[in-house]
Amino acid sequence: MENNAKFYKIITYGCQMNLHESEKIAGILTALNYAETDDDEKAKVIVFNTCCIRENASQRAEGNVGALKQLKRKKKDLIIAVGGCMTQQPGFADKFHEKFPFVDIIFGTHNLEKFKDLLLKKLSTKKTVISIDEKEGEIIEGTPKTRTSFPNAWVNITYGCNNFCTYCIVPYVRGRERSRKLQDVVNECKELIDAGYREITLLGQNVNSYGNDLGNVNFATLINEVSKIKGKFRLKFMTNHPKDFTEDLIKAISDSDKTCKCVHLPVQAGSNRILKLMNRRYTREDYLEKVRLLRKYIPDVAITTDIMVSFPTETEEDFLDTLNLVEEVRFAGAFTFIYSKRNGTPAAKMDGQIPEDVSKERIVKLIDAQNRINREQSEQYLNKVVEILCEGYDDKKNMYLGRDTYGRMAYFNGNDNLVGEFVNVKITKTGGISLVGEIVND
Ligand code: SAH
Ligand code: SF4
Ligand code: F3S
Repeated sequence: MENNAKFYKIITYGCQMNLHESEKIAGILTALNYAETDDDEKAKVIVFNTCCIRENASQRAEGNVGALKQLKRKKKDLIIAVGGCMTQQPGFADKFHEKFPFVDIIFGTHNLEKFKDLLLKKLSTKKTVISIDEKEGEIIEGTPKTRTSFPNAWVNITYGCNNFCTYCIVPYVRGRERSRKLQDVVNECKELIDAGYREITLLGQNVNSYGNDLGNVNFATLINEVSKIKGKFRLKFMTNHPKDFTEDLIKAISDSDKTCKCVHLPVQAGSNRILKLMNRRYTREDYLEKVRLLRKYIPDVAITTDIMVSFPTETEEDFLDTLNLVEEVRFAGAFTFIYSKRNGTPAAKMDGQIPEDVSKERIVKLIDAQNRINREQSEQYLNKVVEILCEGYDDKKNMYLGRDTYGRMAYFNGNDNLVGEFVNVKITKTGGISLVGEIVND
């Protein structure tokens, strides 16, 4: 049997959206009787689901594809497929094919649902299949999914982005914003809860503009409807955009008994001059007002963010505005990035690109400040009992791990299989970002 078994391996780069897209590719392969492996030698199909948000994401993907050249020479029937945001970039696929002629299938973000057809075409014609749809099509429902993140389940609510932040490649590789029908989203969530999932994360580049293209619904309606689903589960969503994060929406979040007390609200920069150049369409003051409102309705809410340093022309003063904002808001966590020039975006043509040594200095200062804030917040947890949704088992630490409603990670010991269970954990050790504790009975 083993000899006839067909295996696939998927390597994913980039955001949660891409992780979920890989679950769809896995679903398509599962329906074709392939099983998962992490062993290159065993795999009959290896898929790279790529990202191009920053230069290093693209470089890593290219490096890892290149590294398979030898294996492909040895294993003639191995199929290598490369898809995702990197290959969707205008004019990219043909150059990529020239550079890596041994890659069998090159596909983009707009035709992922047709991956089955592309694979079958490759198997029957033996010719390289290059298939990039330039424009996004209608939303295709019903693609099978092999989920990999139990007890969490990702659920798309919008695809694409209309915001055109001047540094960002996403609108060019994911197309215009399209919302899934409310009923399709609610039905999927219901099925997942019925199947035992304990956390739903709604996904969109800007979830707050959900429904703009549908007419009679918005994100607040969606939160209300999903929250009505029976059963105990946590509801999360990402990403929010400050310009569309309204008081009504904040109310809907605080009214729901399912939403977690953590909100990811990317600020990107603390300087009004830079925010304007980024085309973010809010000011530092607008952002701080959203934070104030959030804390008015959900006083203990944990706010996390994305921050970029060294956008073109960023001065030391601009950077200090960002650093001050971090101190003022006291985020519960921040993803920090050095601006990376993306060809085809307006910012790539701007003068005043910042030298690498300056960027490094700035990001180190930013990370140091955020780490200190994280440590101070962690200390508050000592001896507290928190409800943790157990997400998995860490083989290196030999402990279970999970998160509380604020998104804070904790490690703990347990005898039974606890993955997918809610457990009460008393925090006994704090240190960095994550906590250590022990299970207590209520
Ligand atoms: N739609 C989301 C996330 C987009 S990508 C949002 O609007 O927030 C995730 C993060 O990557 C962004 O928030 C931004 O901080 C960062 N990012 C995007 N483009 C980048 C670039 N060219 N260089 C460095 N970081 C970038
Ligand atoms: Fe990119 Fe801005 Fe859209 Fe986010 S909102 S995906 S940063 S263009
Ligand atoms: Fe995500 Fe990267 Fe594409 S962050 S949307 S996979 S460019």
